[in-house]
Amino acid sequence: MMSKIQSIRGMKDVLPDETPIWQWLESKVRNITYRYGYQEMRLPILEPVALFERAVGESTDIVAKEMYNFHDKSGEHITLRPEGTSGCVRAVIENNMCYNKTQRLWYQGPMFRYERPQKGRLRQFTQFGVETFGMSGADIDAELIFMVRDIFRSLGVDQYVRLEINSLGTLPERLEHRQQLVSYFNQHKALLDEDSLRRLETNPLRILDSKNPQMQEMIEVAPRLLNFLGEDSRQHFDELCQLLDAAEIPYIVNPRLVRGLDYYTRTVFEWITDELGSQGTVCGGGRYDGLAELFGSKSLPASGFAIGIERLLLLIQAVGGDKHISNYPDIVVTYENDKQNVEALMLANQLRSKLSHLKILSDCSGNKIKRQHANALKSGCRYIITLNANQKIGLWDLEKNTNALSPLEDIIAYFAH
Ligand code: HAM
Repeated sequence: MMSKIQSIRGMKDVLPDETPIWQWLESKVRNITYRYGYQEMRLPILEPVALFERAVGESTDIVAKEMYNFHDKSGEHITLRPEGTSGCVRAVIENNMCYNKTQRLWYQGPMFRYERPQKGRLRQFTQFGVETFGMSGADIDAELIFMVRDIFRSLGVDQYVRLEINSLGTLPERLEHRQQLVSYFNQHKALLDEDSLRRLETNPLRILDSKNPQMQEMIEVAPRLLNFLGEDSRQHFDELCQLLDAAEIPYIVNPRLVRGLDYYTRTVFEWITDELGSQGTVCGGGRYDGLAELFGSKSLPASGFAIGIERLLLLIQAVGGDKHISNYPDIVVTYENDKQNVEALMLANQLRSKLSHLKILSDCSGNKIKRQHANALKSGCRYIITLNANQKIGLWDLEKNTNALSPLEDIIAYFAH
């Protein structure tokens, strides 16, 4: 027997039962991007491996362990993008989009990371991302946070997420902190687990992110980057805090928030929920002022965030926010005599042309009328219209439980108001 072919681990089909909630979420998110004046970018899914090595950083888990890399037929080393910021920066520079102007952009699409799949963690997942260019102030960082708050509010989950913020300072500030941090961790080397020992060489800041319970006490008193911020970075961070206070957005300053990508400078933030277990970060973002320069461009301040859509959907479902979303047709058109299928199809067309606000499904199954009705009932529709053998039209209102034969004009009038 031939073996079954199944989907790749960590890559999920979105079935028709689930698409209504995706579409609902996408329309809410799009509406907010529109109202904030952001423009959509559509970016390639394949990018050069070198793009992420340089932007995200070779020592990060994403680049070191999680990318889907391969050589194409011409030998080029390419990858399925693990995130959207790097490609967006590439595109902005390549298309000279920031010459004397700022940009506010958004994108949505699949990202790929070879991680161990679990609830809320997939190998193909969808990000809604926003990136801004040419603005260095804390005001635009605050605007991004306002936007995420509005998204969560419009989806009814703002009560279930908390905002954590931190400042990672500038590169020189980080280097000074790094030296102190390395010497501190060296003093406590015996307490470091294997992962942290590796990170001590490659990316010591990420040790602060460790969840290992044995290391928490030691990490808690490690040198804090916030204490190494220079005057300008301090002021930038204070201003962000003041803007969030003014907008009455609650937040927690988490000095251990470092993010898993190397390009951040100054502001970083995450929105976290306790409803999803260990994969509770629904949104992550921050400022990355030095990234464009890594690609040979002149200095270009930038800031952005990305929301993991699957995680956000899990959260909406966990708090029952999906109850009102349905995919039901309003009307199903059926027919008594199996020779009437074409007439029923035309009847559905007539109804659609007059009743543009309704979802009208035509039963083309060829089944007997009893089965057609049973399927219509299963579909969750509110009305069943039946073309009788004697060409009369029956309207069955399932909610009122009324059933009557009526001329077509009366049926149309019935729905028109
Ligand atoms: P990130 O924190 O790596 O940041 O990802 C952003 C969000 O994508 C996460 O908070 C999470 O919701 C979702 N996500 C990440 N990995 C997975 C996964 N394996 N399965 C399901 N969801 C996942 C970035 O990617 C940055 N590019 C964000 C950014 C934009 N920073 C500035 N601009």
